[in-house]
Amino acid sequence: MYNILVAAHSGIRWIIVLMAVIVLIKTLIGWLGSQDYTKLDRQLWLGLVNSAAIQLLLGIVMVIWLLVSGLGFGGVFGLYGEHVLTNIIAIAILMYAARFKKLSDTLQHRNKFFAVLVSALLIYFAVARVGGWG
Ligand code: HEM
Repeated sequence: MYNILVAAHSGIRWIIVLMAVIVLIKTLIGWLGSQDYTKLDRQLWLGLVNSAAIQLLLGIVMVIWLLVSGLGFGGVFGLYGEHVLTNIIAIAILMYAARFKKLSDTLQHRNKFFAVLVSALLIYFAVARVGGWG
């Protein structure tokens, strides 16, 4: 059962990578081209944030599983602890960026671009720490 959770968690990473790349390109073009923030932009944004939220929930279940089953989590400052804390910060940045919807369209594009950029870098290093890029 735990293996299924890890496999799902491992697979969803690619959805997040794909969504992050699309949102980065779309917001960069939107910012530099002073484009409207459209319904498509909102849907892509939700796709990214929702896949990150699912990843967070799966991750929390996995951590509880490791703790309860006695498999061992390795502590807050262990390898998994680092992965978990860094990713929680990365996902929190994405969720905080929802506030930018109150700004003008160009500023929303710009701020979301930088939020995803910082978040994606954190995710990249957090996943690299657990050897998750192969
Ligand atoms: C965008 C965020 C995240 C991504 C892309 C991600 C990706 C990954 C990847 C690729 C692995 C390696 C899986 C494997 O060995 O095949 C992994 C492992 C793990 N992740 Fe995440 N993760 C994210 C967030 C989280 C969060 C928020 C938590 C906990 C709250 C978490 C908990 C874990 C744990 C416990 C493992 C170790 C699984 C094991 O090998 O037993 N992850 N993660």
